[in-house]
Amino acid sequence: MTNKIVEPVGNNSSSAVREVQVFAPATVANLVCGFDVLGMALQQPQDVMTVRLQEQPGIVIQHADGYDLPVEPEKNVAGASLLALMEEWKEKVGFEVIIDKRIKPGSGLGSSAASSAGAVVAANHLLGNPFSREDLVRFAMNGEKVASGVKHADNIAPCIYGGITLIRSIFPLDIVQLTAPPMYVTVVHPQIEVRTSDARQILRKEVQLKAAIKQWGNIAGLVAGFMKNDYALIGRSLEDVIIEPVRSILIPGFDDVKKRSKEAGALGGGISGSGPSVFMLSKEEAVAKGVENIMIDVYTRLGIEFKTYVTNINYNGAKVIS
Ligand code: HSE
Repeated sequence: MTNKIVEPVGNNSSSAVREVQVFAPATVANLVCGFDVLGMALQQPQDVMTVRLQEQPGIVIQHADGYDLPVEPEKNVAGASLLALMEEWKEKVGFEVIIDKRIKPGSGLGSSAASSAGAVVAANHLLGNPFSREDLVRFAMNGEKVASGVKHADNIAPCIYGGITLIRSIFPLDIVQLTAPPMYVTVVHPQIEVRTSDARQILRKEVQLKAAIKQWGNIAGLVAGFMKNDYALIGRSLEDVIIEPVRSILIPGFDDVKKRSKEAGALGGGISGSGPSVFMLSKEEAVAKGVENIMIDVYTRLGIEFKTYVTNINYNGAKVIS
């Protein structure tokens, strides 16, 4: 089914909830220097999903948006994540999932992670919360494997935990929640598609020790800057000498947006996830809005359609709406 409008569900506070709606936020993976290890959840945009328990075992996927995404559970990111959850639940259970995507697939804003995370958060709620958040990340990483060919958790973890997360390890999972000072996030999504699998394919497999040392310094500096509320240190550490030089070639206007945003007072920023979205962090709202105007100017001049957001860090993560 396509183009179905998802109607809000009623109050689901009883223990025998059969249907829930979930908001699943967009996320910025990597946070410039932390390829595959850092991620941040955003207030906007968010996907909306409705998940129902069904009598029949199995998974039925429906799309309430215009995107032509697969409905076969093992080929769909939400379906693959639910299959992993059902394997550990052991008892027979079935889910019907209606996905209303507001985060465009291929945007670099964690669209696949939102579907994967939203599905398992909803299913866990419907089953009476038997699984931990770490379990849910583990299940949802199966969706990332379907989407990009590799299990990574830098979108999934912030989508489920909210805030900023450090993935110290994925095998075994070791997720660290980071505190951070208040910040505004300005995002531009040029309406071109960059597939994560392609953006991973073009990366060099070896890294020079000199570059690795610089990157380690920046990751450690960024984490310390977040935890110490040190805006200047955050700004100095938002530098990527390994991934960005390769991937930014795929994003028209990237260098211009970055240079002008920093001149306008942004702390710094870079490619959101695997792109093509670009994000900038700012301490003040006025600066974040100035950065949005720069993004609008750059993409209007380039004649490329785009969408912008001025938003904040989302500390709730994927949320069941009662
Ligand atoms: N860390 C992943 C990458 C995120 O950059 O390929 C994909 O959204």
